[in-house]
Amino acid sequence: MHVLVIESSPNTDGLTAACARAALEGVQSAGGTAEDVRLKDLEIGSCNQCADGWGDCRPNHECGGVQDDFQALHQRAIAADALVLVTPVYWGDMSESMKNFTDRMRRCEASLGEESRLFGKPVLMVAAAGGGGGGMISCLTNMERWAHHVRALPFDFVGIKRITRAHKLETIRAAAEAMARYPG
Ligand SMILES: Cc1cc2nc3c(=O)[nH]c(=O)nc-3n(C[C@H](O)[C@H](O)[C@H](O)COP(=O)(O)O)c2cc1C
Repeated sequence: MHVLVIESSPNTDGLTAACARAALEGVQSAGGTAEDVRLKDLEIGSCNQCADGWGDCRPNHECGGVQDDFQALHQRAIAADALVLVTPVYWGDMSESMKNFTDRMRRCEASLGEESRLFGKPVLMVAAAGGGGGGMISCLTNMERWAHHVRALPFDFVGIKRITRAHKLETIRAAAEAMARYPG
């Protein structure tokens, strides 16, 4: 199984990066292959809300309104067997770069219904919060809504914060390993 791990923190040595590393290790220990994508290394702008609110994304299932790194990453996500999305919790939600990517992918895929190119694709969703962890659950709720809209299979959800770091990194490793073996 080939897994795309998409992480969205500007910090290369923070909690989000540690979660992404744990996910990569989990996939590899199941014999799968994984690649890590840092959204902050890419240019992925926000949705342009073209035309009356629905642009090319509804009929063509691709974003024609903003030409940037979205289109290529969208295709890589479609090609992968499974996804891991790791975001820091910002304002009780996904970070802006993860929002941009998932918002635009949702517009392209949601109108396909069960023909969505993400239909049934297992996704492990991770929200990496700060000290108190307030807003971690609303962040995961929004990720769950996204998975529902694109008809992906929410394989698991993990909330992690500073004081739960050690055991939750183990959880992420185990979840990624189990996902890479799924449904075997
Ligand atoms: C703009 C901003 C908003 C944040 N909002 C929240 C929040 O709502 N809840 C929370 O627990 N932590 C919040 N944090 C803290 C980050 O989620 C936390 O530091 C996280 O571990 C960052 O991941 P990183 O170490 O990969 O950068 C916020 C941080 C920033 C920069």
